[in-house]
Amino acid sequence: MSRLKLSTTSWTTQTAFIMAATGSAVGLGNLWKFPYITGENGGGAFVLVYLLCVLLIGLPVLIAEITLGRRGGANPPQALSNLAKESKASKWWWLLGLNGLLAGCLILSFYTVIAGWGVAYFFESLSGDFINISAKSVSTNFSSLIANPWQLAFWHTVAMLITVYIVSKGVKGGLEKAVNIMMPGLFIILLILLGYAASTDAFAESFHFLFYPDFSKLTWQGVLVAMGHAFFTLSVGMGTMMVYGSYLSKDYSIPRAGLWIALIDTLVALIAGLVIFSVVFANHLHAGSGPGLLFQTLPVAFGKMSGGWFFGTLFFALVVLAALSSAISLIEPAASWLEQNWGIKRLKATVILGLLTWVLGLGTVLSFNEWKSVHFIGDRTLFDSLDFLTTNIMLPLGGLLMAVFVAWVMTQQQRDDEMEMPSPWKDFYRNVLKFITPTAILIVFIYNLL
Ligand code: PFF
Repeated sequence: MSRLKLSTTSWTTQTAFIMAATGSAVGLGNLWKFPYITGENGGGAFVLVYLLCVLLIGLPVLIAEITLGRRGGANPPQALSNLAKESKASKWWWLLGLNGLLAGCLILSFYTVIAGWGVAYFFESLSGDFINISAKSVSTNFSSLIANPWQLAFWHTVAMLITVYIVSKGVKGGLEKAVNIMMPGLFIILLILLGYAASTDAFAESFHFLFYPDFSKLTWQGVLVAMGHAFFTLSVGMGTMMVYGSYLSKDYSIPRAGLWIALIDTLVALIAGLVIFSVVFANHLHAGSGPGLLFQTLPVAFGKMSGGWFFGTLFFALVVLAALSSAISLIEPAASWLEQNWGIKRLKATVILGLLTWVLGLGTVLSFNEWKSVHFIGDRTLFDSLDFLTTNIMLPLGGLLMAVFVAWVMTQQQRDDEMEMPSPWKDFYRNVLKFITPTAILIVFIYNLL
Protein backbone atom coordinates (compact mmCIF):
# COMPACT_ATOMS: atom_id res chain seq x y z
CA MET A 1 0.00 0.00 0.00
CA SER A 2 2.93 2.31 -0.27
CA ARG A 3 2.82 3.16 -3.97
CA LEU A 4 0.86 6.19 -4.97
CA LYS A 5 -1.56 4.98 -7.61
CA LEU A 6 -3.93 7.51 -9.02
CA SER A 7 -7.22 7.16 -10.86
CA THR A 8 -6.65 8.11 -14.47
CA THR A 9 -10.25 8.35 -15.69
CA SER A 10 -12.44 11.36 -15.03
CA TRP A 11 -16.07 12.27 -15.61
CA THR A 12 -16.73 14.05 -18.89
CA THR A 13 -18.75 16.78 -17.18
CA GLN A 14 -19.66 17.66 -13.63
CA THR A 15 -23.27 16.83 -14.35
CA ALA A 16 -22.12 13.38 -15.35
CA PHE A 17 -20.72 12.95 -11.86
CA ILE A 18 -24.01 14.07 -10.28
CA MET A 19 -25.93 11.73 -12.54
CA ALA A 20 -23.65 8.77 -11.83
CA ALA A 21 -23.62 9.42 -8.08
CA THR A 22 -27.39 9.89 -8.08
CA GLY A 23 -27.66 6.75 -10.19
CA SER A 24 -25.77 4.95 -7.46
CA ALA A 25 -27.84 6.47 -4.67
CA VAL A 26 -31.25 6.05 -6.29
CA GLY A 27 -31.91 2.36 -6.55
CA LEU A 28 -33.71 -0.50 -4.91
CA GLY A 29 -33.15 1.28 -1.61
CA ASN A 30 -35.57 4.01 -2.65
CA LEU A 31 -38.12 2.11 -4.67
CA TRP A 32 -38.18 -1.17 -2.81
CA LYS A 33 -36.54 -0.94 0.60
CA PHE A 34 -37.62 2.46 1.93
CA PRO A 35 -41.35 1.77 1.46
CA TYR A 36 -41.19 -1.67 3.04
CA ILE A 37 -39.11 -0.70 6.08
CA THR A 38 -41.37 2.32 6.58
CA GLY A 39 -44.33 -0.03 6.46
CA GLU A 40 -42.72 -2.40 8.94
CA ASN A 41 -41.79 0.43 11.30
CA GLY A 42 -45.14 2.15 11.48
CA GLY A 43 -44.77 5.13 9.09
CA GLY A 44 -44.46 8.84 10.05
CA ALA A 45 -42.22 8.71 13.10
CA PHE A 46 -39.85 6.39 11.29
CA VAL A 47 -39.80 8.69 8.25
CA LEU A 48 -38.97 11.65 10.49
CA VAL A 49 -36.06 9.81 12.10
CA TYR A 50 -34.92 8.71 8.66
CA LEU A 51 -34.93 12.32 7.37
CA LEU A 52 -32.93 13.42 10.42
CA CYS A 53 -30.46 10.61 9.83
CA VAL A 54 -30.03 11.68 6.19
CA LEU A 55 -29.46 15.28 7.21
CA LEU A 56 -27.22 14.80 10.26
CA ILE A 57 -25.44 11.59 9.41
CA GLY A 58 -25.83 10.62 5.76
CA LEU A 59 -25.19 13.98 4.11
CA PRO A 60 -22.13 14.95 6.20
CA VAL A 61 -20.58 11.54 5.58
CA LEU A 62 -21.45 11.73 1.88
CA ILE A 63 -19.58 15.03 1.60
CA ALA A 64 -16.70 13.58 3.62
CA GLU A 65 -16.51 10.47 1.46
CA ILE A 66 -16.41 12.36 -1.85
CA THR A 67 -13.74 14.61 -0.31
CA LEU A 68 -11.64 11.60 0.67
CA GLY A 69 -11.98 10.19 -2.83
CA ARG A 70 -11.05 13.35 -4.68
CA ARG A 71 -8.10 14.17 -2.44
CA GLY A 72 -6.94 10.56 -2.23
CA GLY A 73 -7.26 10.29 -6.00
CA ALA A 74 -7.55 6.51 -6.20
CA ASN A 75 -9.60 3.43 -5.28
CA PRO A 76 -10.66 3.36 -1.58
CA PRO A 77 -7.79 1.40 0.03
CA GLN A 78 -5.21 3.31 -2.00
CA ALA A 79 -6.91 6.66 -1.51
CA LEU A 80 -6.85 6.17 2.26
CA SER A 81 -3.28 5.01 2.15
CA ASN A 82 -2.37 8.16 0.16
CA LEU A 83 -4.27 10.39 2.57
CA ALA A 84 -2.80 8.74 5.65
CA LYS A 85 0.64 9.38 4.23
CA GLU A 86 -0.20 13.01 3.51
CA SER A 87 -1.45 13.46 7.06
CA LYS A 88 1.27 11.30 8.63
CA ALA A 89 -1.41 9.07 10.13
CA SER A 90 -1.35 5.31 10.66
CA LYS A 91 -0.85 3.29 7.51
CA TRP A 92 -3.62 0.95 8.68
CA TRP A 93 -6.27 3.38 7.44
CA TRP A 94 -6.26 1.48 4.16
CA LEU A 95 -8.25 -1.24 5.94
CA LEU A 96 -11.20 1.15 6.02
CA GLY A 97 -11.13 1.01 2.23
CA LEU A 98 -11.02 -2.76 2.36
CA ASN A 99 -14.10 -2.84 4.62
CA GLY A 100 -15.86 -0.89 1.90
CA LEU A 101 -14.86 -3.22 -0.93
CA LEU A 102 -16.04 -6.19 1.09
CA ALA A 103 -19.34 -4.52 2.00
CA GLY A 104 -19.88 -3.67 -1.68
CA CYS A 105 -19.46 -7.28 -2.78
CA LEU A 106 -21.68 -8.58 0.04
CA ILE A 107 -24.42 -6.06 -0.83
CA LEU A 108 -24.14 -6.85 -4.53
CA SER A 109 -24.68 -10.55 -3.79
CA PHE A 110 -28.23 -9.93 -2.59
CA TYR A 111 -28.83 -6.77 -4.63
CA THR A 112 -28.81 -8.68 -7.94
CA VAL A 113 -31.26 -11.21 -6.49
CA ILE A 114 -33.78 -8.43 -5.80
CA ALA A 115 -32.90 -6.70 -9.08
CA GLY A 116 -33.69 -10.09 -10.62
CA TRP A 117 -37.23 -9.85 -9.23
CA GLY A 118 -37.46 -6.54 -11.07
CA VAL A 119 -36.28 -8.15 -14.32
CA ALA A 120 -38.82 -10.96 -13.91
CA TYR A 121 -41.59 -8.41 -13.28
CA PHE A 122 -40.54 -6.37 -16.28
CA PHE A 123 -41.12 -9.38 -18.54
CA GLU A 124 -44.36 -10.32 -16.82
CA SER A 125 -45.66 -6.80 -17.21
CA LEU A 126 -44.53 -6.70 -20.83
CA SER A 127 -46.46 -9.87 -21.59
CA GLY A 128 -49.65 -8.36 -20.18
CA ASP A 129 -49.86 -10.61 -17.11
CA PHE A 130 -50.82 -7.75 -14.82
CA ILE A 131 -53.77 -6.42 -16.80
CA ASN A 132 -56.77 -6.39 -14.45
CA ILE A 133 -54.97 -8.61 -11.98
CA SER A 134 -56.41 -8.77 -8.44
CA ALA A 135 -54.38 -7.98 -5.33
CA LYS A 136 -54.73 -11.61 -4.30
CA SER A 137 -53.38 -12.99 -7.59
CA VAL A 138 -50.41 -10.61 -7.46
CA SER A 139 -49.60 -11.83 -4.00
CA THR A 140 -49.85 -15.50 -5.04
CA ASN A 141 -47.76 -14.75 -8.10
CA PHE A 142 -45.02 -13.20 -5.94
CA SER A 143 -45.06 -16.05 -3.42
CA SER A 144 -44.62 -18.62 -6.14
CA LEU A 145 -41.75 -16.63 -7.68
CA ILE A 146 -39.75 -16.53 -4.46
CA ALA A 147 -40.62 -20.13 -3.59
CA ASN A 148 -38.88 -21.29 -6.75
CA PRO A 149 -35.08 -21.27 -6.34
CA TRP A 150 -34.43 -22.11 -9.99
CA GLN A 151 -36.43 -19.17 -11.23
CA LEU A 152 -34.80 -16.82 -8.71
CA ALA A 153 -31.35 -18.10 -9.58
CA PHE A 154 -32.09 -17.55 -13.26
CA TRP A 155 -33.09 -13.89 -12.81
CA HIS A 156 -30.23 -13.32 -10.36
CA THR A 157 -27.87 -14.62 -13.04
CA VAL A 158 -29.38 -12.33 -15.66
CA ALA A 159 -28.97 -9.28 -13.39
CA MET A 160 -25.40 -10.24 -12.49
CA LEU A 161 -24.42 -10.81 -16.12
CA ILE A 162 -25.70 -7.39 -17.16
CA THR A 163 -23.88 -5.78 -14.21
CA VAL A 164 -20.60 -7.49 -15.00
CA TYR A 165 -20.95 -6.71 -18.69
CA ILE A 166 -21.44 -2.98 -18.09
CA VAL A 167 -18.69 -2.68 -15.48
CA SER A 168 -16.28 -4.55 -17.71
CA LYS A 169 -16.84 -1.85 -20.35
CA GLY A 170 -15.69 0.85 -17.93
CA VAL A 171 -17.66 3.48 -16.10
CA LYS A 172 -17.30 6.30 -18.55
CA GLY A 173 -18.53 4.89 -21.84
CA GLY A 174 -21.54 2.88 -20.72
CA LEU A 175 -22.67 4.05 -17.32
CA GLU A 176 -22.23 7.76 -17.80
CA LYS A 177 -24.40 7.90 -20.92
CA ALA A 178 -26.98 5.52 -19.51
CA VAL A 179 -27.59 7.39 -16.24
CA ASN A 180 -28.02 10.67 -18.09
CA ILE A 181 -31.11 9.19 -19.72
CA MET A 182 -32.24 6.85 -16.95
CA MET A 183 -32.40 9.25 -14.04
CA PRO A 184 -34.63 11.94 -15.61
CA GLY A 185 -36.71 9.10 -17.05
CA LEU A 186 -37.18 7.55 -13.65
CA PHE A 187 -38.18 10.89 -12.21
CA ILE A 188 -40.79 11.55 -14.89
CA ILE A 189 -42.35 8.11 -14.46
CA LEU A 190 -42.44 8.58 -10.69
CA LEU A 191 -44.23 11.91 -11.10
CA ILE A 192 -46.79 10.30 -13.40
CA LEU A 193 -47.34 7.59 -10.79
CA LEU A 194 -47.63 10.24 -8.11
CA GLY A 195 -50.36 11.86 -10.19
CA TYR A 196 -52.13 8.54 -10.39
CA ALA A 197 -51.76 7.93 -6.65
CA ALA A 198 -53.08 11.42 -5.87
CA SER A 199 -56.23 10.58 -7.81
CA THR A 200 -57.00 7.59 -5.59
CA ASP A 201 -59.10 7.89 -2.43
CA ALA A 202 -56.32 6.38 -0.38
CA PHE A 203 -53.82 9.17 -1.13
CA ALA A 204 -54.76 11.15 1.98
CA GLU A 205 -54.31 8.06 4.10
CA SER A 206 -50.96 7.38 2.48
CA PHE A 207 -49.86 10.98 3.08
CA HIS A 208 -50.99 10.74 6.67
CA PHE A 209 -49.18 7.44 7.16
CA LEU A 210 -45.90 8.88 5.88
CA PHE A 211 -45.93 12.39 7.29
CA TYR A 212 -47.86 12.31 10.58
CA PRO A 213 -45.55 10.84 13.18
CA ASP A 214 -46.99 8.49 15.78
CA PHE A 215 -44.09 8.01 18.17
CA SER A 216 -45.77 5.14 19.96
CA LYS A 217 -45.00 3.07 16.88
CA LEU A 218 -41.29 3.88 16.86
CA THR A 219 -38.87 1.42 18.44
CA TRP A 220 -35.12 1.63 19.02
CA GLN A 221 -34.80 -1.11 16.47
CA GLY A 222 -36.57 1.24 14.07
CA VAL A 223 -34.03 4.01 14.78
CA LEU A 224 -31.23 1.60 13.99
CA VAL A 225 -32.92 0.60 10.75
CA ALA A 226 -33.43 4.28 9.81
CA MET A 227 -29.78 5.08 10.39
CA GLY A 228 -28.57 2.05 8.48
CA HIS A 229 -30.86 2.99 5.64
CA ALA A 230 -29.55 6.56 5.51
CA PHE A 231 -26.16 5.06 4.67
CA PHE A 232 -27.55 2.48 2.29
CA THR A 233 -29.74 4.86 0.32
CA LEU A 234 -26.99 7.46 -0.13
CA SER A 235 -24.45 4.74 -1.00
CA VAL A 236 -22.10 5.97 1.70
CA GLY A 237 -19.72 4.19 4.03
CA MET A 238 -18.36 1.71 1.53
CA GLY A 239 -16.23 3.58 -0.97
CA THR A 240 -18.52 4.02 -3.96
CA MET A 241 -18.68 7.77 -3.48
CA MET A 242 -14.96 7.74 -2.77
CA VAL A 243 -14.08 6.08 -6.05
CA TYR A 244 -16.59 8.25 -7.93
CA GLY A 245 -15.06 11.28 -6.20
CA SER A 246 -11.62 10.19 -7.37
CA TYR A 247 -12.86 10.71 -10.95
CA LEU A 248 -14.13 14.22 -10.16
CA SER A 249 -12.25 17.28 -11.34
CA LYS A 250 -10.95 19.80 -8.82
CA ASP A 251 -13.16 22.71 -9.82
CA TYR A 252 -16.45 21.31 -8.64
CA SER A 253 -17.98 22.08 -5.27
CA ILE A 254 -18.32 18.89 -3.23
CA PRO A 255 -20.87 20.26 -0.72
CA ARG A 256 -23.12 21.34 -3.58
CA ALA A 257 -22.81 17.93 -5.22
CA GLY A 258 -23.63 16.25 -1.89
CA LEU A 259 -26.74 18.38 -1.42
CA TRP A 260 -28.05 17.54 -4.87
CA ILE A 261 -27.46 13.83 -4.48
CA ALA A 262 -29.13 13.71 -1.05
CA LEU A 263 -32.05 15.88 -2.16
CA ILE A 264 -32.88 13.87 -5.28
CA ASP A 265 -32.43 10.60 -3.43
CA THR A 266 -34.77 11.65 -0.62
CA LEU A 267 -37.42 12.98 -2.99
CA VAL A 268 -37.45 9.77 -4.97
CA ALA A 269 -37.86 7.70 -1.79
CA LEU A 270 -40.72 9.86 -0.49
CA ILE A 271 -42.56 9.86 -3.81
CA ALA A 272 -42.13 6.09 -4.13
CA GLY A 273 -43.51 5.75 -0.60
CA LEU A 274 -46.55 7.94 -1.36
CA VAL A 275 -47.33 5.96 -4.50
CA ILE A 276 -46.92 2.55 -2.95
CA PHE A 277 -48.90 3.23 0.22
CA SER A 278 -51.74 4.75 -1.80
CA VAL A 279 -51.99 1.44 -3.62
CA VAL A 280 -51.59 -0.54 -0.41
CA PHE A 281 -54.40 1.29 1.37
CA ALA A 282 -56.67 1.48 -1.67
CA ASN A 283 -56.51 -2.29 -1.94
CA HIS A 284 -56.65 -3.01 1.80
CA LEU A 285 -53.22 -4.60 1.75
CA HIS A 286 -50.91 -4.84 4.76
CA ALA A 287 -48.31 -2.00 4.98
CA GLY A 288 -45.90 -4.11 7.03
CA SER A 289 -45.73 -7.04 4.65
CA GLY A 290 -41.93 -6.82 4.27
CA PRO A 291 -39.64 -7.21 1.24
CA GLY A 292 -42.48 -8.21 -1.09
CA LEU A 293 -44.31 -4.89 -0.69
CA LEU A 294 -43.31 -3.21 -3.98
CA PHE A 295 -43.81 -6.41 -5.92
CA GLN A 296 -47.23 -7.08 -4.47
CA THR A 297 -48.71 -3.61 -4.78
CA LEU A 298 -47.67 -1.82 -7.95
CA PRO A 299 -48.86 -4.52 -10.38
CA VAL A 300 -52.36 -4.08 -8.91
CA ALA A 301 -52.27 -0.36 -9.60
CA PHE A 302 -50.89 -0.79 -13.11
CA GLY A 303 -53.44 -3.50 -13.82
CA LYS A 304 -56.25 -1.06 -13.11
CA MET A 305 -55.06 2.23 -14.58
CA SER A 306 -55.54 3.11 -18.22
CA GLY A 307 -52.25 2.77 -20.04
CA GLY A 308 -51.18 0.57 -17.15
CA TRP A 309 -49.52 -1.97 -19.38
CA PHE A 310 -47.30 0.74 -20.83
CA PHE A 311 -46.50 2.53 -17.57
CA GLY A 312 -46.14 -0.70 -15.64
CA THR A 313 -43.66 -2.11 -18.09
CA LEU A 314 -41.81 1.18 -18.19
CA PHE A 315 -41.76 1.37 -14.41
CA PHE A 316 -40.27 -2.08 -13.98
CA ALA A 317 -37.76 -1.29 -16.72
CA LEU A 318 -36.74 1.72 -14.67
CA VAL A 319 -36.61 -0.30 -11.45
CA VAL A 320 -34.18 -2.55 -13.27
CA LEU A 321 -32.15 0.35 -14.64
CA ALA A 322 -32.07 2.12 -11.27
CA ALA A 323 -30.98 -1.15 -9.68
CA LEU A 324 -28.29 -1.68 -12.31
CA SER A 325 -26.84 1.81 -12.03
CA SER A 326 -26.46 1.07 -8.30
CA ALA A 327 -25.20 -2.48 -8.81
CA ILE A 328 -22.45 -1.18 -11.06
CA SER A 329 -21.38 1.26 -8.39
CA LEU A 330 -21.25 -1.53 -5.79
CA ILE A 331 -18.63 -3.39 -7.76
CA GLU A 332 -16.67 -0.35 -9.00
CA PRO A 333 -14.54 0.20 -5.84
CA ALA A 334 -13.35 -3.41 -5.85
CA ALA A 335 -12.89 -3.46 -9.62
CA SER A 336 -10.76 -0.32 -9.56
CA TRP A 337 -8.71 -1.71 -6.66
CA LEU A 338 -7.95 -4.91 -8.58
CA GLU A 339 -7.14 -2.83 -11.62
CA GLN A 340 -5.04 -0.10 -10.01
CA ASN A 341 -3.28 -2.06 -7.28
CA TRP A 342 -3.06 -5.56 -8.64
CA GLY A 343 -2.67 -4.78 -12.34
CA ILE A 344 -5.58 -7.06 -13.24
CA LYS A 345 -7.38 -6.11 -16.46
CA ARG A 346 -10.82 -4.66 -15.94
CA LEU A 347 -12.58 -7.48 -17.78
CA LYS A 348 -10.86 -10.15 -15.70
CA ALA A 349 -11.35 -8.18 -12.49
CA THR A 350 -15.10 -7.80 -12.99
CA VAL A 351 -15.55 -11.43 -14.02
CA ILE A 352 -13.77 -12.63 -10.86
CA LEU A 353 -15.82 -10.29 -8.65
CA GLY A 354 -19.04 -11.13 -10.47
CA LEU A 355 -18.46 -14.86 -10.09
CA LEU A 356 -17.72 -14.66 -6.37
CA THR A 357 -20.72 -12.47 -5.61
CA TRP A 358 -22.95 -14.59 -7.88
CA VAL A 359 -22.12 -17.74 -5.86
CA LEU A 360 -22.80 -15.92 -2.60
CA GLY A 361 -26.06 -14.61 -4.09
CA LEU A 362 -27.26 -18.19 -4.51
CA GLY A 363 -27.36 -18.31 -0.71
CA THR A 364 -29.76 -15.35 -0.74
CA VAL A 365 -31.85 -17.11 -3.40
CA LEU A 366 -32.14 -20.16 -1.15
CA SER A 367 -32.91 -18.06 1.92
CA PHE A 368 -36.35 -17.32 0.43
CA ASN A 369 -37.24 -20.99 0.05
CA GLU A 370 -35.07 -24.05 0.89
CA TRP A 371 -33.09 -22.26 3.59
CA LYS A 372 -36.01 -20.23 4.89
CA SER A 373 -35.58 -21.61 8.39
CA VAL A 374 -31.79 -21.66 8.40
CA HIS A 375 -30.62 -18.83 10.63
CA PHE A 376 -27.27 -17.04 10.60
CA ILE A 377 -27.13 -13.85 12.68
CA GLY A 378 -29.71 -14.23 15.46
CA ASP A 379 -32.96 -15.43 13.97
CA ARG A 380 -32.17 -13.96 10.56
CA THR A 381 -32.07 -15.84 7.27
CA LEU A 382 -28.95 -15.50 5.13
CA PHE A 383 -30.52 -12.63 3.17
CA ASP A 384 -31.56 -10.82 6.35
CA SER A 385 -28.14 -11.50 7.91
CA LEU A 386 -26.24 -10.08 4.93
CA ASP A 387 -28.53 -7.08 4.86
CA PHE A 388 -28.11 -6.55 8.60
CA LEU A 389 -24.34 -7.05 8.56
CA THR A 390 -23.74 -4.62 5.70
CA THR A 391 -26.45 -2.01 6.24
CA ASN A 392 -26.37 -1.87 10.03
CA ILE A 393 -22.75 -2.67 10.81
CA MET A 394 -20.28 -2.34 7.93
CA LEU A 395 -21.67 0.84 6.31
CA PRO A 396 -22.15 2.76 9.58
CA LEU A 397 -18.71 1.61 10.77
CA GLY A 398 -17.22 2.72 7.44
CA GLY A 399 -19.10 6.02 7.66
CA LEU A 400 -17.99 6.60 11.25
CA LEU A 401 -14.33 6.13 10.38
CA MET A 402 -14.62 8.31 7.27
CA ALA A 403 -16.14 11.08 9.38
CA VAL A 404 -13.34 10.65 11.92
CA PHE A 405 -10.70 10.84 9.22
CA VAL A 406 -12.03 14.00 7.62
CA ALA A 407 -12.91 15.73 10.90
CA TRP A 408 -10.00 14.68 13.11
CA VAL A 409 -7.11 13.50 10.94
CA MET A 410 -7.24 15.98 8.06
CA THR A 411 -6.27 19.56 8.82
CA GLN A 412 -8.57 22.53 8.35
CA GLN A 413 -6.29 23.65 5.54
CA GLN A 414 -6.72 20.34 3.72
CA ARG A 415 -10.48 20.42 4.19
CA ASP A 416 -10.69 24.02 2.97
CA ASP A 417 -8.57 23.15 -0.04
CA GLU A 418 -10.75 20.30 -1.06
CA MET A 419 -14.26 21.32 -0.08
CA GLU A 420 -14.51 25.08 -0.41
CA MET A 421 -17.41 25.13 2.01
CA PRO A 422 -18.90 28.66 2.36
CA SER A 423 -17.87 30.34 5.60
CA PRO A 424 -20.98 30.21 7.77
CA TRP A 425 -21.37 26.51 7.01
CA LYS A 426 -17.74 25.56 7.47
CA ASP A 427 -17.73 25.49 11.27
CA PHE A 428 -21.18 24.03 11.44
CA TYR A 429 -20.20 21.20 9.13
CA ARG A 430 -16.96 20.54 10.97
CA ASN A 431 -18.74 20.35 14.31
CA VAL A 432 -21.47 18.09 13.01
CA LEU A 433 -18.86 15.79 11.48
CA LYS A 434 -16.64 15.95 14.55
CA PHE A 435 -19.22 15.37 17.25
CA ILE A 436 -22.80 14.79 16.18
CA THR A 437 -22.29 12.26 13.41
CA PRO A 438 -19.87 9.98 15.32
CA THR A 439 -21.90 10.22 18.54
CA ALA A 440 -25.12 9.33 16.76
CA ILE A 441 -23.50 6.37 15.04
CA LEU A 442 -21.89 5.19 18.27
CA ILE A 443 -25.11 5.38 20.27
CA VAL A 444 -26.94 3.26 17.77
CA PHE A 445 -24.02 0.86 17.60
CA ILE A 446 -23.87 0.37 21.34
CA TYR A 447 -27.58 -0.21 21.42
CA ASN A 448 -27.07 -2.71 18.66
CA LEU A 449 -24.40 -4.60 20.59
CA LEU A 450 -26.47 -4.73 23.75
N1 PFF B 1 -27.92 3.40 -2.73
C1 PFF B 1 -28.37 2.17 -3.36
C2 PFF B 1 -29.87 2.05 -3.18
O1 PFF B 1 -30.48 2.87 -2.48
O2 PFF B 1 -30.44 1.12 -3.74
C3 PFF B 1 -27.69 0.95 -2.81
C4 PFF B 1 -26.20 1.09 -2.73
C5 PFF B 1 -25.45 1.30 -3.88
C6 PFF B 1 -25.57 1.05 -1.50
C7 PFF B 1 -24.10 1.51 -3.80
C8 PFF B 1 -24.23 1.24 -1.39
C9 PFF B 1 -23.51 1.47 -2.55
F1 PFF B 1 -22.24 1.67 -2.46
